[in-house]
Amino acid sequence: MRRVFVAGGAGFIGSAFIRHVLRERRDAEVVNFDALTYAGNLANLADVSADRRYRFVRGSVTDAAAVAAALAGCDAVVNFAAESHVDRSIHDATDFIDTNVRGVHSVLTAAREAGVARVLHVSTDEVYGPATHDDARSEDDAFRPRSPYAASKAAGDMLCHAFAETHGMGVVVARPANNVGPYQHPEKAVPLFITRAIAGEPLPVYGDGLQVRDRLHVDDNVRALLLLLERGEAGEAYNIQADNHHTNIDVARAILDALDRPHDLIRYVDDREGHDRCYWMDWSKLRALGWAPTYDFDRAIEATVRWYAGNRAWWEPTVRAGAFRGYYERQYGARLAGAQPYRAQ
Ligand code: TYD
Repeated sequence: MRRVFVAGGAGFIGSAFIRHVLRERRDAEVVNFDALTYAGNLANLADVSADRRYRFVRGSVTDAAAVAAALAGCDAVVNFAAESHVDRSIHDATDFIDTNVRGVHSVLTAAREAGVARVLHVSTDEVYGPATHDDARSEDDAFRPRSPYAASKAAGDMLCHAFAETHGMGVVVARPANNVGPYQHPEKAVPLFITRAIAGEPLPVYGDGLQVRDRLHVDDNVRALLLLLERGEAGEAYNIQADNHHTNIDVARAILDALDRPHDLIRYVDDREGHDRCYWMDWSKLRALGWAPTYDFDRAIEATVRWYAGNRAWWEPTVRAGAFRGYYERQYGARLAGAQPYRAQ
């Protein structure tokens, strides 16, 4: 890999991946192509912006001509560009179809026309729909997406598979679990709970809070992604999971404990519509390539809490901005008004 085109590199996982590549591959160059929607933030890359091997191009994956122009001269492609918040997809899925389906198509088409040898597309465990420890999903299992977000990601995955089969392209798909770590947008559960807890405000936990998610530290995830870009088999998908499964109520309590705040900041609010109870994957295929997670649940949460506590200047402007406050009111206003108090369980 000489020059890698990273779509969506200004987001949470994309920016961590760019930092990782520039650190670990001294002769690699990176083109970061990002639309800078509300979820993209160049401050996530402040520490590498002066690196001569790094270049930023503003553009959307939905603009096929812009993708093709920015991708010229690159020999590897990684696609992180996505609308990723399930709750927003419940309100309106239009942008999800544009970015997560049409956007994937234009990235694949541009890569094909440029003769790019390696394409890594970053998907999600949510394409499989709900699963449990005793009924874990393998890469070839059926897709049963239940949210508009998950459905749009499943469609993008299928396009990758189709381009690998039809055009013989070197496309690899990664399906990571829920990520935690620095620079995640405060709309997502973990940073939302942390930033609310720091402010001494209620933490809105959906339903009974007993839904289960894995918590994969983003630094572990980007190590897996670079491995898959370089050594994943063309046409194959790979699950990425840390086996750090916990309920949301456990996560909320762990955050409050790390900040020395009382558990009664937790509020039970009306559940998310179509809320998936649990995700669980079999990741033996990735293990066989030599990857293993290094963060357990406690360390992943503690490190994330520490980062948000020490980097208020990064997230405070976002949560104070009118756009976020409007979103927050729409998503949580009525829910918090009818919330139930915390009960130990
Ligand atoms: P989220 O971070 O939105 O990730 P995903 O839905 O893709 O898994 O949510 C993680 C879990 O936390 C999920 O079960 C929904 C729950 N959740 C809450 O309980 N309250 C909240 O305010 C949010 C945003 C999520």
